[in-house]
Amino acid sequence: MKDFAGKIAFITGAASGGGLGQAKVFSKAGMKVAIADVRQDALDKAVGEIIAYSGAKPEDVLALKVDLTNRAEYTAAADKVEATFGGPPNLLIQTAGVNSFGPIEASTFDDFDWVMGVCLNHVVNGLLIFVPRMIKAYAHKEEFHVATTSSMGAFMAGSTTGPYSAAKAAVNNLMYSYDAALKPYGAGATVLCPGNINSNIGNSEKFRPEGLKNTGYHVSEGTIKTLNAIHATGIDPIELGEILKEGIETGRVIVLPDHNTGEQRAAQLRGQNETIEDYCLTAEERAAKAPRFFAPPPPPEGEDSPSGPPPSMWGVPEGGEAFGNARKDLDWIDDSKKAK
Ligand code: NAI
Repeated sequence: MKDFAGKIAFITGAASGGGLGQAKVFSKAGMKVAIADVRQDALDKAVGEIIAYSGAKPEDVLALKVDLTNRAEYTAAADKVEATFGGPPNLLIQTAGVNSFGPIEASTFDDFDWVMGVCLNHVVNGLLIFVPRMIKAYAHKEEFHVATTSSMGAFMAGSTTGPYSAAKAAVNNLMYSYDAALKPYGAGATVLCPGNINSNIGNSEKFRPEGLKNTGYHVSEGTIKTLNAIHATGIDPIELGEILKEGIETGRVIVLPDHNTGEQRAAQLRGQNETIEDYCLTAEERAAKAPRFFAPPPPPEGEDSPSGPPPSMWGVPEGGEAFGNARKDLDWIDDSKKAK
């Protein structure tokens, strides 16, 4: 998709962070923009910010309060966009997401249901609700495209990022399927995989819905403070939105905007990719190949976990607390039982 002016965008999670940056960028590109988010106060603020950034007419920015994991609510939001802007979106960008860190063996059903509900199921909901409408309205008539904000976590599962990484890996895979499926209709799909965004995702736990609050992870003001300090060092959401726009314009399925993974993660990625690359070789080629082994560096002093997002990559700020630990009352979580 190359021509955005006058067309319709529907962006999820757009009251904050990455989604808000995307809303600003595509509004400035001349699109009518519908922003969907679960937080009304953040939506109200976002509308003003988008208009101030892009100079859009107020009637070209539509804010929709919707819990995107709820299919009836999501469908009603889709109907509202069509009624307001005169058609389904040409560009669907699903960016809403939450995160929660803790040992996967400490996870509860609520941890999986919440994180996978937002990070994976809302994406499925949006694709099933919108793609048929988009094909009917635009196939071979107007450009259309679907995009999702995934994460580098899709490639780098760690012991403390289980539900999130699993959801993001599924989203990546799904977007390859949609790209292949939409090509014959003259459309495509893009998945954006950032490493770190300057956003509010560190505050996710504060907005965990009632009914999904039984977490197995240790969460405190201190862990939230540490996460916020880390995300404050992430890529600027508008810059990220421009990178996504360029990826959509050039028809790329996967967009990797930055590379601040650190040595340990780089080793994990290289080792993982080598295993997959080797699948493409014949048995003879594999036997003849010089072994490449990307050993991760030893964990930093005082840390025994080689996985998860090590706080040492960024440091724990004053008043902060390390995140990624289990709730203290879980009697099967005992670090002394783990091999050093
Ligand atoms: P953010 O917290 O600033 O924005 C996410 C938005 O999603 C929030 O406004 C939140 O209210 C909304 N949301 C959450 N649950 C929802 C629901 N059920 N229905 C409707 N809206 C809901 O976070 P950020 O970082 O901008 O996240 C955007 C995307 O980027 C997410 O998919 C996240 O997983 C991904 N990402 C973030 C990274 C980071 O370092 N912050 C790194 C890689 C990927």
